[in-house]
Amino acid sequence: MNLTLGIIKPDAVSKGLTGKILDRILSEGFQIRAMKLVHLTKKQAEGFYAVHKDKGFFEELTNFMSSAPCVVMVLEKENAVEEWRKLMGATNPAEAAEGTLRKQFGSSIGENAVHGSDSKENAEIEIAYFFNKLELV
Ligand code: CMP
Repeated sequence: MNLTLGIIKPDAVSKGLTGKILDRILSEGFQIRAMKLVHLTKKQAEGFYAVHKDKGFFEELTNFMSSAPCVVMVLEKENAVEEWRKLMGATNPAEAAEGTLRKQFGSSIGENAVHGSDSKENAEIEIAYFFNKLELV
């Protein structure tokens, strides 16, 4: 599968960075197969990040992700999961490499501008969380 799930998080959408991030995604050779603006409820954010439910930051993470709209999208490229993670950069913007989205647009480990699936298996699960098959172009 050459698909992954990407999210432009509430911090980046609120700062008006959606266009800049989409521009970068397209210029790096990704195709956008599906995309929508969603304002997650707390329950929906908890469901999406269920793998982190036992972590100390779960409450902070799900409050933040349900605080304002985000843009969810299905990205296609060869090795989509790895390529999108490379473009995003390290989770903590302070540790992210120059030229990555988190370095450029993230402000903290929680408010780090973008999310991406961490494996092909999770990409399938995460895509199905937001999109049905008919919505994938
Ligand atoms: P993301 O790729 O969306 O996957 C899980 C998110 O949890 C991660 O990006 C971070 O934004 C967030 N996260 C990870 N560690 C912490 C932390 N120590 N404090 C707050 N949020 C965190």
